Amino acid sequence: MRIDVITIFPEYLEPLNVSLVGKARARGQLDVRIHNLRDWTHDRHNTVDDSPFGGGPGMVMKPEPWGEALDAVTAEAGEQLPVLVVPTPSGLPFTQELAVELSERPWLVFTPARYEGIDRRVIEEYGDRFDVREVSIGDYVLAGGEAPVLVIVEAVARLLPGVLGNAESHRDDSFAPGAMADLLEGPVYTKPPVWREREVPEVLLSGHHGKVARFRRDEAFRRTTANRPDLIERCDPAALDKLDRKL
Ligand code: ADE
Repeated sequence: MRIDVITIFPEYLEPLNVSLVGKARARGQLDVRIHNLRDWTHDRHNTVDDSPFGGGPGMVMKPEPWGEALDAVTAEAGEQLPVLVVPTPSGLPFTQELAVELSERPWLVFTPARYEGIDRRVIEEYGDRFDVREVSIGDYVLAGGEAPVLVIVEAVARLLPGVLGNAESHRDDSFAPGAMADLLEGPVYTKPPVWREREVPEVLLSGHHGKVARFRRDEAFRRTTANRPDLIERCDPAALDKLDRKL
């Protein structure tokens, strides 16, 4: 997969050299290219923003540098069209479902904005040519779209074939598809079996796969009820009961 990021803070994307994403890049599974938006400005101050038409607080990112940058970065777009991912608190919620969809595309171009956002005409212009997704990572406002890019790239990269060590390690993820789709993952334990007088639940040491599965599902249900009652409403009890029959 190819990923381009156009930003005024290239150094903000340095975590993409580390850990899972960094390793995927080193192995050639991910081709990540970071671009400085100011390379496409032509004035002495490398200006990328201006005051908003209609008044109001803050600044708006000018369309010209974004247009030149996106033209240059997407110049190779032939058969393979990029998906343009525009992080904004006004976008559609970023979900595991969208992460899966993006992971199936060969090329993502991210346009993280600062200030009050990018002149709307940029989104319209490239929306006519490419698949444009305005995406919010949550109901809070950050100072810019770079942190959301890190979040989205990590969520997508770990879904690429061969990127996670164990092919099954995202099977039971919270939000992964399946009968437990609408439940959060329950608690996990490792050695030692007793730590500061706290014992690992006995069933997990029993070696009884059916009982372990049932325990995990009950814990997942408990945690989801406590933390995300909104998800319980989407949960299908009949599908969960079918899991029991396989015990
Ligand atoms: N930019 C600022 N806040 C954001 C958010 N919550 N999601 C995506 N992009 C953003």
